[in-house]
Amino acid sequence: MKKRLFLTATAVAVAALGATSAMAQADTFKIGLIVPLTGQQASTGKQIEAATKLYMAQNGASVAGKKIELIIKDDGGIPDASKRIAQELVVNDKVNVLAGFGLTPIALAVAPIATQSKTPQIIMAAATSIITEASPYIIRTSFTIPQSAVAMADWAPKNGIKKVVTLVSDYGPGIDAEKFFKDRLLFNGGQVIESLRVPLRGPDFAPFLQKVRDIKPDALFVFVPSGAGAAVMKQFLERGMDKAGIKLIGTGDLTDDDQLNDMGDGALNVVTSHHYSAAHPSALNKKFVDAFEKANKGLRPNFMAVGGYDGMRVIYEALRATKGAGGGDALLAAMKGQIFESPRGPMFIDAQTRDVVHNMYLRKVEKKDGKLYNVEFDVIKDMKDPGKTR
Ligand code: PHB
Repeated sequence: MKKRLFLTATAVAVAALGATSAMAQADTFKIGLIVPLTGQQASTGKQIEAATKLYMAQNGASVAGKKIELIIKDDGGIPDASKRIAQELVVNDKVNVLAGFGLTPIALAVAPIATQSKTPQIIMAAATSIITEASPYIIRTSFTIPQSAVAMADWAPKNGIKKVVTLVSDYGPGIDAEKFFKDRLLFNGGQVIESLRVPLRGPDFAPFLQKVRDIKPDALFVFVPSGAGAAVMKQFLERGMDKAGIKLIGTGDLTDDDQLNDMGDGALNVVTSHHYSAAHPSALNKKFVDAFEKANKGLRPNFMAVGGYDGMRVIYEALRATKGAGGGDALLAAMKGQIFESPRGPMFIDAQTRDVVHNMYLRKVEKKDGKLYNVEFDVIKDMKDPGKTR
């Protein structure tokens, strides 16, 4: 009898413990953030990590009665690592949302896990057009390379640039940049006379730039991923290509706010197209930049930070709209169609494509208060991804 009583009590205690941890589980909303904090893409991870933490500091760590837990993992920019980490986050940590994704191959490697587990996958960095089609659970808050490339191909021929050589990183976004820039330039009466591709890992730009110097086009159009722009700029200037009359243009990844101020005055007047500049003149952006710099020892936020910050907004509001319910399908539905003001300007998640619709700005590098900035001088409003055929 005594033994039976003891057993029953133990069973009750164990059940109570189970209930408590289940309750703790149910009271917590987990975001698994997978970013490169080491390796070639480390600046992307650092920017996104800082931005997601800032969003939480500004907006509180609980939403609709749930405590938000941000689980940050470093994938080193290696797709196999990201895939393994995503699996662990879904199976062991039971995350409600996966977020981050510093490179296109990483976003694509994780997509099947999002689909199988019905977990929303928020793309905060990667930018190849096709990504959103890899899983119906993908939502993108970064940008698409065709948006940037087309904006530049519209601006260039109206500004005396007719013959262009393209130089891109040889993988998804680079190939998008090359194709969309070339086709649109041709449509606008210009011409790409040579297309060059450099390896993503450990690129040496020197032989490619020498070739461009020999060809002597009106301009060199460049796409390299965030973090690689300063090396291109340095070698372009060292070869005196600007003095030889070759203009440097590109998507805004080239004059990345993370590195721009260290590029030197040689970067002055370089024109790029992009969705975000730290110099974007809005009250909201000024507040964002000031708070970000204050929280990160003066680090200037770049477009990766904004992708992370807006991604958190999309997650928070989806959780609020579903009253803390947290299921993958309900969250996804509440993410589609969100419309809000971002530090980049107005922004919209297209419910059909799950991709970002936002302004594309033409910007020129200028000096303001002794520092280099991408100063916006023109805008193409509410641009959808030109890569979507639907
Ligand atoms: C990408 O891999 O999709 C990517 C990475 C960095 C960028 C843009 C695109 O700056």
